[in-house]
Amino acid sequence: MAYEKLKQDIEKEIRKNMKHKFEHDDIFKNHMIPVMNYSSKLAKIYKADKDVVELAALLHDIAYTQTKENENHEIIGAEIAERMLKGKVPNEKIELIKKCIMHHRGAKNYKRETKEEQIVACADAMSHIDNSLIFMYLWGASHKGLEPAQKWLKEKIQRGWKKITLPEGRKMVKDKYEAIMLLLN
Ligand SMILES: [Fe+2]
Repeated sequence: MAYEKLKQDIEKEIRKNMKHKFEHDDIFKNHMIPVMNYSSKLAKIYKADKDVVELAALLHDIAYTQTKENENHEIIGAEIAERMLKGKVPNEKIELIKKCIMHHRGAKNYKRETKEEQIVACADAMSHIDNSLIFMYLWGASHKGLEPAQKWLKEKIQRGWKKITLPEGRKMVKDKYEAIMLLLN
């Protein structure tokens, strides 16, 4: 199937140009794939476009992995995605994929008008909750000391929880969210 091939090409592209600071931790396997799987489940429940959310999930952080640039990675990522998908995916799907990438970040107050945008943003936060202890270790490690790292993670997870606006998404990670908050409090 064309979309399967496309997904494989995206994986190759991400792996080839990986400049992420934790490249040895396989962000593709530990983040993009979980975001894709959660997006896929939510698309089925909420009857959204599965191809759109899966491709957007795989591509949502592409700018971040290729440049290490966190600021504005959603804007640059949408441009990279458009270049990669042009001619391979119908234009209206590309437009929706770009919106999903543009609006996935919890740190910025974006409006998400379509089901697909909401799904990718939820799935991103759900994956952060899944991997919260690893974040504490890896990303918190760049903060000085345990307490600032703990505070940073708590804020990130709480922000993520707020970003999971779809009830079915919340249900899927509720136990993990409560467990991590118990540990962080
Ligand atoms: Fe992400």
